[in-house]
Amino acid sequence: MLTAVRSRHEYEYAHIAVRRLSGTLGAEITGVDLARPMDAATFAEVLEAFHRHLVIVAPGQRIAPEQLVAFTERFGPVEGHPLGSRRGLEDHPQVMVLENRPGRLGPRNDFWHSDISYGETPPLGSVLYAVEVTEGRGDTMFCNMYAAYEGLSDGLKSMLDGMTALHSAEKLVQEVPNRLSVDVAPPAVEHPAVRTHPGTGRKALYVNPHYTIRFTGWTPEESRPLLDLLAVRATRPENVFRHHWRAGDVLMWDNRCVMHYAVRDYDDTMPRLMYRTTAAGDRPR
Ligand code: SIN
Repeated sequence: MLTAVRSRHEYEYAHIAVRRLSGTLGAEITGVDLARPMDAATFAEVLEAFHRHLVIVAPGQRIAPEQLVAFTERFGPVEGHPLGSRRGLEDHPQVMVLENRPGRLGPRNDFWHSDISYGETPPLGSVLYAVEVTEGRGDTMFCNMYAAYEGLSDGLKSMLDGMTALHSAEKLVQEVPNRLSVDVAPPAVEHPAVRTHPGTGRKALYVNPHYTIRFTGWTPEESRPLLDLLAVRATRPENVFRHHWRAGDVLMWDNRCVMHYAVRDYDDTMPRLMYRTTAAGDRPR
Protein backbone atom coordinates (compact mmCIF):
# COMPACT_ATOMS: atom_id res chain seq x y z
CA MET A 1 0.00 0.00 0.00
CA LEU A 2 1.26 3.47 -0.86
CA THR A 3 1.21 5.96 2.00
CA ALA A 4 1.89 9.67 1.92
CA VAL A 5 4.71 10.84 4.18
CA ARG A 6 3.77 13.84 6.32
CA SER A 7 6.44 16.16 7.62
CA ARG A 8 6.52 16.57 11.40
CA HIS A 9 5.98 20.29 10.74
CA GLU A 10 2.54 19.71 9.22
CA TYR A 11 -0.51 21.02 11.06
CA GLU A 12 -3.39 18.82 12.23
CA TYR A 13 -6.77 20.00 10.91
CA ALA A 14 -10.11 19.00 12.46
CA HIS A 15 -12.64 20.42 9.98
CA ILE A 16 -10.92 20.11 6.59
CA ALA A 17 -8.33 17.84 5.00
CA VAL A 18 -5.19 19.45 3.62
CA ARG A 19 -2.77 17.77 1.21
CA ARG A 20 0.51 19.43 0.29
CA LEU A 21 0.99 19.71 -3.49
CA SER A 22 4.67 20.68 -3.73
CA GLY A 23 7.71 21.17 -1.55
CA THR A 24 7.47 24.95 -1.48
CA LEU A 25 3.84 26.07 -1.78
CA GLY A 26 0.39 24.87 -2.75
CA ALA A 27 -2.09 22.61 -0.96
CA GLU A 28 -5.36 20.93 -1.81
CA ILE A 29 -8.16 21.40 0.69
CA THR A 30 -11.10 19.01 0.81
CA GLY A 31 -14.10 18.63 3.09
CA VAL A 32 -15.42 22.11 2.24
CA ASP A 33 -18.33 23.06 0.03
CA LEU A 34 -17.71 26.66 -0.98
CA ALA A 35 -21.30 27.02 -2.16
CA ARG A 36 -22.46 26.91 1.48
CA PRO A 37 -21.84 29.39 4.27
CA MET A 38 -18.72 28.39 6.18
CA ASP A 39 -18.68 28.37 9.98
CA ALA A 40 -15.97 30.27 11.84
CA ALA A 41 -14.04 27.16 12.95
CA THR A 42 -13.83 25.82 9.39
CA PHE A 43 -12.85 29.21 8.02
CA ALA A 44 -10.11 29.50 10.66
CA GLU A 45 -8.60 26.27 9.30
CA VAL A 46 -8.93 27.43 5.68
CA LEU A 47 -7.11 30.63 6.67
CA GLU A 48 -4.46 28.63 8.50
CA ALA A 49 -3.90 26.49 5.38
CA PHE A 50 -3.79 29.64 3.23
CA HIS A 51 -1.13 31.23 5.44
CA ARG A 52 0.87 28.01 5.65
CA HIS A 53 0.69 26.97 1.98
CA LEU A 54 0.20 30.35 0.20
CA VAL A 55 -1.91 28.76 -2.56
CA ILE A 56 -4.95 26.61 -1.73
CA VAL A 57 -7.09 24.65 -4.17
CA ALA A 58 -10.54 23.21 -3.47
CA PRO A 59 -11.39 20.76 -6.25
CA GLY A 60 -14.83 19.68 -7.48
CA GLN A 61 -16.76 22.83 -6.55
CA ARG A 62 -19.97 24.06 -8.18
CA ILE A 63 -20.50 27.62 -7.09
CA ALA A 64 -22.55 30.56 -8.27
CA PRO A 65 -20.92 33.99 -8.70
CA GLU A 66 -22.47 35.33 -5.48
CA GLN A 67 -21.04 32.35 -3.57
CA LEU A 68 -17.60 33.02 -5.05
CA VAL A 69 -17.93 36.63 -3.88
CA ALA A 70 -19.11 35.51 -0.40
CA PHE A 71 -16.10 33.16 -0.03
CA THR A 72 -13.65 35.87 -1.16
CA GLU A 73 -15.22 38.39 1.25
CA ARG A 74 -14.18 36.21 4.17
CA PHE A 75 -10.63 37.38 3.42
CA GLY A 76 -11.36 41.03 2.61
CA PRO A 77 -13.65 43.36 0.65
CA VAL A 78 -14.01 42.26 -2.98
CA GLU A 79 -12.70 44.78 -5.51
CA GLY A 80 -12.56 45.07 -9.30
CA HIS A 81 -9.49 45.81 -11.42
CA PRO A 82 -8.35 49.43 -10.79
CA LEU A 83 -7.57 50.02 -14.47
CA GLY A 84 -10.61 48.14 -15.74
CA SER A 85 -8.54 45.52 -17.54
CA ARG A 86 -11.11 42.74 -17.22
CA ARG A 87 -14.79 42.58 -18.02
CA GLY A 88 -17.04 41.73 -15.07
CA LEU A 89 -20.16 39.57 -15.10
CA GLU A 90 -23.24 41.62 -15.88
CA ASP A 91 -25.00 40.89 -12.58
CA HIS A 92 -21.78 40.67 -10.55
CA PRO A 93 -19.34 43.25 -11.92
CA GLN A 94 -16.79 42.39 -9.23
CA VAL A 95 -16.49 38.87 -10.74
CA MET A 96 -13.96 39.22 -13.56
CA VAL A 97 -14.30 36.98 -16.58
CA LEU A 98 -11.12 35.52 -18.08
CA GLU A 99 -12.35 33.89 -21.25
CA ASN A 100 -10.66 32.27 -24.21
CA ARG A 101 -12.94 31.07 -26.98
CA PRO A 102 -13.03 30.78 -30.78
CA GLY A 103 -12.32 34.18 -32.29
CA ARG A 104 -11.50 35.73 -28.94
CA LEU A 105 -8.11 35.02 -27.42
CA GLY A 106 -8.17 35.66 -23.68
CA PRO A 107 -6.01 38.19 -21.82
CA ARG A 108 -2.31 37.39 -21.45
CA ASN A 109 -0.78 36.87 -18.05
CA ASP A 110 2.27 34.90 -19.17
CA PHE A 111 4.82 36.84 -17.16
CA TRP A 112 5.85 36.54 -13.53
CA HIS A 113 4.11 39.19 -11.47
CA SER A 114 2.45 40.11 -8.25
CA ASP A 115 -0.99 41.53 -9.00
CA ILE A 116 -1.36 45.29 -9.13
CA SER A 117 1.88 46.00 -7.29
CA TYR A 118 1.68 49.40 -9.07
CA GLY A 119 -1.26 50.26 -6.77
CA GLU A 120 -1.01 51.92 -3.35
CA THR A 121 -2.79 48.95 -1.75
CA PRO A 122 -2.24 45.85 -3.90
CA PRO A 123 -4.69 42.96 -3.45
CA LEU A 124 -4.47 40.53 -0.53
CA GLY A 125 -5.14 37.69 -2.92
CA SER A 126 -7.29 36.43 -5.75
CA VAL A 127 -9.59 33.49 -6.29
CA LEU A 128 -9.94 31.71 -9.64
CA TYR A 129 -12.86 29.39 -10.33
CA ALA A 130 -12.25 27.10 -13.32
CA VAL A 131 -15.56 26.92 -15.17
CA GLU A 132 -14.16 25.40 -18.36
CA VAL A 133 -10.66 24.16 -19.15
CA THR A 134 -8.84 22.62 -22.07
CA GLU A 135 -7.42 19.44 -20.58
CA GLY A 136 -3.69 19.66 -19.91
CA ARG A 137 -3.30 23.28 -21.07
CA GLY A 138 -3.43 26.73 -19.52
CA ASP A 139 -1.69 25.81 -16.24
CA THR A 140 -0.87 28.55 -13.76
CA MET A 141 2.47 28.68 -11.96
CA PHE A 142 3.14 30.22 -8.54
CA CYS A 143 6.37 30.91 -6.67
CA ASN A 144 7.07 31.41 -2.98
CA MET A 145 8.43 34.90 -2.19
CA TYR A 146 9.18 34.07 1.47
CA ALA A 147 11.54 31.33 0.32
CA ALA A 148 12.94 33.64 -2.37
CA TYR A 149 13.91 36.12 0.37
CA GLU A 150 15.08 33.54 2.91
CA GLY A 151 17.37 31.91 0.30
CA LEU A 152 19.42 35.08 -0.23
CA SER A 153 22.75 35.75 1.51
CA ASP A 154 22.63 37.69 4.79
CA GLY A 155 24.40 40.58 3.05
CA LEU A 156 21.86 40.88 0.24
CA LYS A 157 18.94 40.39 2.65
CA SER A 158 20.11 43.23 4.87
CA MET A 159 20.68 45.54 1.89
CA LEU A 160 17.19 44.81 0.49
CA ASP A 161 15.62 45.19 3.96
CA GLY A 162 16.45 48.89 3.84
CA MET A 163 15.36 49.50 0.24
CA THR A 164 12.19 50.52 -1.53
CA ALA A 165 11.31 50.10 -5.21
CA LEU A 166 9.03 51.78 -7.71
CA HIS A 167 6.22 49.86 -9.41
CA SER A 168 4.41 51.01 -12.55
CA ALA A 169 1.63 49.80 -14.87
CA GLU A 170 3.52 51.14 -17.90
CA LYS A 171 4.03 47.68 -19.49
CA LEU A 172 0.32 46.95 -19.08
CA VAL A 173 -0.62 50.23 -20.74
CA GLN A 174 1.74 49.54 -23.66
CA GLU A 175 0.11 46.14 -24.38
CA VAL A 176 -1.53 45.86 -27.81
CA PRO A 177 -4.49 45.79 -27.69
CA ASN A 178 -4.74 48.02 -24.63
CA ARG A 179 -7.73 46.56 -22.71
CA LEU A 180 -7.53 49.19 -19.97
CA SER A 181 -9.69 52.19 -19.18
CA VAL A 182 -6.57 54.43 -19.39
CA ASP A 183 -3.96 55.21 -22.08
CA VAL A 184 -1.33 56.56 -19.72
CA ALA A 185 0.04 54.69 -16.70
CA PRO A 186 -0.74 56.29 -13.33
CA PRO A 187 2.32 57.62 -11.42
CA ALA A 188 4.66 54.89 -10.16
CA VAL A 189 4.16 53.78 -6.56
CA GLU A 190 6.89 53.08 -3.99
CA HIS A 191 6.85 49.92 -1.87
CA PRO A 192 9.41 48.22 0.38
CA ALA A 193 11.57 45.70 -1.50
CA VAL A 194 10.89 43.27 1.36
CA ARG A 195 7.47 43.31 3.00
CA THR A 196 6.26 41.79 6.24
CA HIS A 197 3.12 39.70 5.82
CA PRO A 198 0.46 41.10 8.18
CA GLY A 199 -1.00 37.64 8.86
CA THR A 200 2.15 35.59 9.43
CA GLY A 201 4.79 38.17 10.38
CA ARG A 202 7.17 36.57 7.84
CA LYS A 203 9.28 38.61 5.43
CA ALA A 204 8.72 38.19 1.68
CA LEU A 205 10.61 39.61 -1.28
CA TYR A 206 8.33 42.18 -2.89
CA VAL A 207 9.68 43.05 -6.34
CA ASN A 208 8.53 41.47 -9.60
CA PRO A 209 9.85 41.43 -13.17
CA HIS A 210 6.77 42.97 -14.77
CA TYR A 211 5.82 45.95 -12.67
CA THR A 212 8.95 46.88 -10.67
CA ILE A 213 10.78 49.50 -12.73
CA ARG A 214 13.69 50.41 -10.42
CA PHE A 215 14.90 50.67 -6.85
CA THR A 216 14.43 54.07 -5.23
CA GLY A 217 17.55 56.18 -5.72
CA TRP A 218 18.88 53.78 -8.39
CA THR A 219 18.61 54.20 -12.17
CA PRO A 220 16.66 51.60 -14.20
CA GLU A 221 20.00 50.48 -15.70
CA GLU A 222 21.52 49.97 -12.23
CA SER A 223 18.38 48.25 -10.96
CA ARG A 224 17.86 45.77 -13.81
CA PRO A 225 20.71 43.31 -13.02
CA LEU A 226 19.58 43.00 -9.38
CA LEU A 227 15.89 42.72 -10.35
CA ASP A 228 16.84 40.03 -12.88
CA LEU A 229 18.88 38.12 -10.30
CA LEU A 230 16.01 38.24 -7.79
CA ALA A 231 13.53 37.05 -10.43
CA VAL A 232 15.79 34.11 -11.34
CA ARG A 233 16.16 33.16 -7.67
CA ALA A 234 12.41 33.47 -6.99
CA THR A 235 11.38 31.33 -9.98
CA ARG A 236 13.85 28.45 -9.53
CA PRO A 237 11.99 25.21 -10.32
CA GLU A 238 12.14 24.03 -6.71
CA ASN A 239 10.43 27.27 -5.62
CA VAL A 240 7.53 26.88 -8.06
CA PHE A 241 4.19 25.08 -7.88
CA ARG A 242 2.45 24.47 -11.23
CA HIS A 243 -1.29 23.94 -11.05
CA HIS A 244 -2.96 21.72 -13.68
CA TRP A 245 -6.55 22.93 -13.85
CA ARG A 246 -9.65 20.75 -13.70
CA ALA A 247 -13.12 22.20 -14.17
CA GLY A 248 -14.56 22.89 -10.71
CA ASP A 249 -11.25 23.91 -9.11
CA VAL A 250 -11.42 26.97 -6.88
CA LEU A 251 -7.89 28.23 -6.24
CA MET A 252 -6.78 31.16 -4.12
CA TRP A 253 -3.28 32.64 -3.93
CA ASP A 254 -1.78 35.04 -1.43
CA ASN A 255 -0.66 38.00 -3.51
CA ARG A 256 1.46 39.34 -0.62
CA CYS A 257 3.96 36.48 -0.74
CA VAL A 258 3.42 34.82 -4.15
CA MET A 259 4.12 35.72 -7.78
CA HIS A 260 2.22 33.94 -10.54
CA TYR A 261 2.49 33.21 -14.27
CA ALA A 262 -0.33 31.96 -16.53
CA VAL A 263 1.14 29.53 -19.07
CA ARG A 264 0.00 30.45 -22.59
CA ASP A 265 0.15 27.06 -24.37
CA TYR A 266 -3.29 27.35 -25.98
CA ASP A 267 -4.82 29.22 -28.87
CA ASP A 268 -8.29 30.59 -29.52
CA THR A 269 -9.66 27.18 -30.53
CA MET A 270 -9.16 25.91 -26.98
CA PRO A 271 -11.85 27.05 -24.55
CA ARG A 272 -10.82 28.31 -21.15
CA LEU A 273 -13.20 30.14 -18.84
CA MET A 274 -12.25 31.36 -15.39
CA TYR A 275 -14.14 33.57 -12.97
CA ARG A 276 -11.88 35.65 -10.81
CA THR A 277 -12.52 37.61 -7.63
CA THR A 278 -10.02 39.71 -5.74
CA ALA A 279 -9.84 40.52 -2.02
CA ALA A 280 -8.52 43.99 -1.21
CA GLY A 281 -5.20 44.25 0.59
CA ASP A 282 -3.37 46.87 2.61
CA ARG A 283 -0.30 49.00 2.04
CA PRO A 284 2.85 46.84 2.01
CA ARG A 285 5.10 47.48 5.05
C1 SIN B 1 -4.41 35.97 -13.57
O1 SIN B 1 -3.20 36.19 -13.59
O2 SIN B 1 -5.18 36.77 -13.05
C2 SIN B 1 -5.03 34.77 -14.22
C3 SIN B 1 -4.21 33.56 -14.19
C4 SIN B 1 -4.74 32.51 -15.13
O3 SIN B 1 -5.54 32.84 -16.02
O4 SIN B 1 -4.31 31.37 -15.00
